[in-house]
Amino acid sequence: FHNHFTESVQPLIELIDSMRLIGIDKDVNLPSIAVVGDQSSGKSSVLEALSGVALPRGSGIVTRCPLELKLRKLKKGQWSGTISYSDQKETFNDSLKVDNLVRKAQDQLAGNTVGICDDLITLEISSPDVCDLTLIDLPGITRVPVHGQPEDIGDQIKKLILKYIAKSETIILVVVPCTVDIATTEALRMAQDVDPEGCRTLAILTKPDLIDKGGETGILNIVQGKVIPLSKGYIVVKCRGQSDINNNIPLSKALEMDMQFFRNHHYFSSLLIDRRASIQCLADRLTKELVEHIKKSLPCLTEQIQTTLLTVQRELKTYKKGPPLDEEMMGPFLSEIIIKFNDQISDLSRTGHSKDRNI
Ligand code: GDP
Ligand code: NA
Ligand code: MG
Repeated sequence: FHNHFTESVQPLIELIDSMRLIGIDKDVNLPSIAVVGDQSSGKSSVLEALSGVALPRGSGIVTRCPLELKLRKLKKGQWSGTISYSDQKETFNDSLKVDNLVRKAQDQLAGNTVGICDDLITLEISSPDVCDLTLIDLPGITRVPVHGQPEDIGDQIKKLILKYIAKSETIILVVVPCTVDIATTEALRMAQDVDPEGCRTLAILTKPDLIDKGGETGILNIVQGKVIPLSKGYIVVKCRGQSDINNNIPLSKALEMDMQFFRNHHYFSSLLIDRRASIQCLADRLTKELVEHIKKSLPCLTEQIQTTLLTVQRELKTYKKGPPLDEEMMGPFLSEIIIKFNDQISDLSRTGHSKDRNI
């Protein structure tokens, strides 16, 4: 990827990351992008295309824990990945290992069958070939439990998704295949519930190559906001289909094919000019959205931090003087305490009560 925003973007993303690192996200919500949609809508494919990393995928429930994908663009240097979850952490230099390591992490957190789990897996990838983004992949929405899944699996997944998209700091990426009726898409409905104004919802239309003949104008109507208007609108992308994967088409080649598909498309080529199609366009757009979102959240973040600081300072004032930081002052400090303590003991033995209750 060539990313026009890197210069202005990186300091802001690093700011948010360093805040995350010192654990500030336990007290305040930090901005990120969450990917939601039905099972098999193409969520992992979109993430793969953006990250250049092959993620676990297949039919059925594959993503079973929230996966935070932190992409960091290096000016130069080698691909490197770090996976962390619960108390485990592993750094590796072979991108082909990602699939296995994520599966292993999921098995440990959610059991090795079909269960889901709220615990977060973090995968950080640094490479010259990615763009600066932090994305969260979530389990896909299902309605019918498969063998071994609890009856309420659908509700469990929706609850988990809601936990992420309800935060006003989350940009919601709703993934919808061109091949389904968008009006009945549960993920879009959920996004509209938590973000009625649509100010942090962006819809991604996948599988444009699988549209039935004559369906193209329907998709154009959707993108033009004539069906379900969204203030941030729609972007159409073509990712690797099952046959591309079977034929071992690499992700870099798939990006070219995506661009080529739109360029040559009788109906969709105009979408490229409007910046409403292709993975490249999506990547640029997301980086821009994230930065705008971070900028918008900063005043509120500052306010939250100041409020917390005030509370802590007030609490601190209620405590007595602590031990001196200077080691040389430790002797006088201790002897002062011992003298006071001694006075108090003799008071106590003489009168039966102590005057000084401060020790
Ligand atoms: P997820 O369950 O939402 O993560 O969906 P996946 O990313 O695993 O995709 C489900 C299936 O759709 C896979 O077989 C993908 O190869 C296929 N797929 C995803 N995007 C496209 C696309 O743009 N075109 C085609 N033809 N297939 C796609
Ligand atoms: Na899937
Ligand atoms: Mg998936």
